[in-house]
Amino acid sequence: MIRIENLTRDFGGGRGIHNLTMHIPKGSIFGYIGPNGAGKSTTIKILCSLYRQESGKAFIDGIEVCPQNSAKIKKIVGYMPDNFGVYDQMSVWEYLDFFCAAYHIPAKQRQKRIQEVLAITGSEHMIDYQVASLSKGMTQRIGLAKTLLHDPQLLILDEPQAGLDPYARIEMRQTIVRLRDLGKTIMLSSHILPELAGVCDLIGILEKGKLLAFGTVEEVSRKVQENLRISITLADKPEKALEICKANPNVAEPKVHENEIHLTFNGPRGDLPKLLASLVSAGVLVTEFKEDHANLEQVFLSVTHH
Ligand SMILES: Nc1ncnc2c1ncn2[C@@H]1O[C@H](COP(=O)(O)OP(=O)(O)OP(=O)(O)O)[C@@H](O)[C@H]1O
Ligand SMILES: [Mg+2]
Repeated sequence: MIRIENLTRDFGGGRGIHNLTMHIPKGSIFGYIGPNGAGKSTTIKILCSLYRQESGKAFIDGIEVCPQNSAKIKKIVGYMPDNFGVYDQMSVWEYLDFFCAAYHIPAKQRQKRIQEVLAITGSEHMIDYQVASLSKGMTQRIGLAKTLLHDPQLLILDEPQAGLDPYARIEMRQTIVRLRDLGKTIMLSSHILPELAGVCDLIGILEKGKLLAFGTVEEVSRKVQENLRISITLADKPEKALEICKANPNVAEPKVHENEIHLTFNGPRGDLPKLLASLVSAGVLVTEFKEDHANLEQVFLSVTHH
């Protein structure tokens, strides 16, 4: 759905984006992560035809992002900026009706469409509220509803969770997953890293305009973790299991925490079943044997060398 090839926009002093290449397949949720000033919004603005790149190309659904194609691109893309203007004097209904008109949605279809987008974003009850009276979370929902009016295939949401309380973040996350299930492709940027881990099919970590890592959360975590981290949960006391682990030449730093053992495995992944087999054949009751993946926050810090 999105193809970015060697995209560069240099604002001087290393600011901007540099030789960015990434591909985001249809129907996926892509989390674009990076510290302040990394270049996330710059990338997004180029994709939405608001900035022009100096070199490289971007394609959305096979259409090149360039001034000649800007009308076509705008039909496909729904863009929610990090800060968007709202018209305080309007009611929510008037606000959405205004944007329906801007998207050339025929007057007869508008009421139905407004109700649909309010339902998707769980905002039906706000239809008669004054825009000026909306809280931050409500404004974000109405902003998302507005972004959905023309039924775009690709949603580009710049920090949709910013400023939301934990409940509103959960709701926003559920809405994003619901939209993916409706067949949309979603690109969203965020600083709230662990929030993204559960919903993103793919993540990209950007710093100083350079893409440092790209892939599924698991793939990126694996790249970051040099050794395998294993946790073993036991049904009985861990002493016997600990002895067996210590005797395995590939095991380092086994640590016991209640009925769990956490260890680093330095051998090849293929040798892990042997460790499990040695425990089971010695009569140890293993209830869980799993690899611990670094969480997104650890991955982010590691990739950006902090
Ligand atoms: N129009 C512009 N003119 C000059 N510099 C710009 C312009 N737009 C962005 N920049 C610079 O490019 C860098 C990347 O900015 P961008 O807004 O893309 O970062 P971001 O990753 O979205 O950050 P944040 O998380 O704070 O939103 C910053 O150093 C910014 O100052
Ligand atoms: Mg930004």
